[in-house]
Amino acid sequence: MFARFRRKRLNPVLRDLLQETHLSLNDFIYPLFIKSGEGIKKEVDSMPGVFQMSIDEVIKECEVLKSLGIYSIILFGIPDIKDSVGSDAMCEHGIIASSIRAIKEAHPDMFVVTDLCFCEYTDHGHCGVLDPILETVDNDITLTNLGKQAVVHAQAGADMIAPSGMMDGMITTIREALNGNGFSHIPIMSYSTKFSSAYYGPFRDVAESSPSFGDRRSYQMNPANRKEAILESLADEEEGADILMVKPALAYLDIVRDIKESSSLPLAVYNVSGEYSMLKMAGKAGVIDYEKVMMETMIGFKRAGADIIISYHAKEVAQLLKK
Ligand code: PBG
Ligand code: ZN
Repeated sequence: MFARFRRKRLNPVLRDLLQETHLSLNDFIYPLFIKSGEGIKKEVDSMPGVFQMSIDEVIKECEVLKSLGIYSIILFGIPDIKDSVGSDAMCEHGIIASSIRAIKEAHPDMFVVTDLCFCEYTDHGHCGVLDPILETVDNDITLTNLGKQAVVHAQAGADMIAPSGMMDGMITTIREALNGNGFSHIPIMSYSTKFSSAYYGPFRDVAESSPSFGDRRSYQMNPANRKEAILESLADEEEGADILMVKPALAYLDIVRDIKESSSLPLAVYNVSGEYSMLKMAGKAGVIDYEKVMMETMIGFKRAGADIIISYHAKEVAQLLKK
């Protein structure tokens, strides 16, 4: 006697009946990059299909997203003026606050998540205020500013705040700032386990956020560390995060599974820019069947334990799911 697994693979209807993991339109958050101006829709060379857009274009884009069944977006702002602290991010007239207000006015049914960090807003491209002696981000001064930024986002109408800077104590600080300003109902999705990854390369072109010196290894995690990856997420749960995240996704699916098993909180993965571009470029080169590889990758995220997928592929996935 031996097992006959193939008995259950013969009939396509039975195959579907027995499928263990499913993708849904509800799983996705779509990233948008916003610049000031009007009528701007500029494709990024390193990320075909991804654009820097002005607010009016983003409002049109939301219409397209809704027609595809996507109601969740995560916003990244590209300010006109950068300075040493990233003031634009904390200003109620800054690019991100203005965008949130305009989007929520035009599309109250859109769920607007904001990436909370300073790297797009600082002239040095690091994720907070610099400590001149250590030549890296000063954790605790940056915390104070993250609290301010969170309140500005919430006041503008953000539905969920997603801090991505990997500062210690960021969830405690942001939770307290939100609660103290009447926003105890606003959830925090923490980029709780974020690795220092070369997969962010193309993103830094779109978001114009490359560090002008050094790298982010003194705040983002070492890709080689598994136990620390779990501790990072559990610490954010302890601090009151509502949703955890692993970023990047593809090379870290073991970590996704580990965190899923260590915490009962919902878990997001960020299918980052480099992962997107690899599939796009390989598809364009005719090396892979782009759509099939994309769907297989998405199922892999879900199977590993992701509840939410933040992905530049979301629109294309939605089109395929609708078929
Ligand atoms: C900002 C931030 C980054 C990404 C999301 N938020 C870049 C970084 O940490 O350098 C990367 C997203 C992507 O690569 O798609 N801290
Ligand atoms: Zn950052």
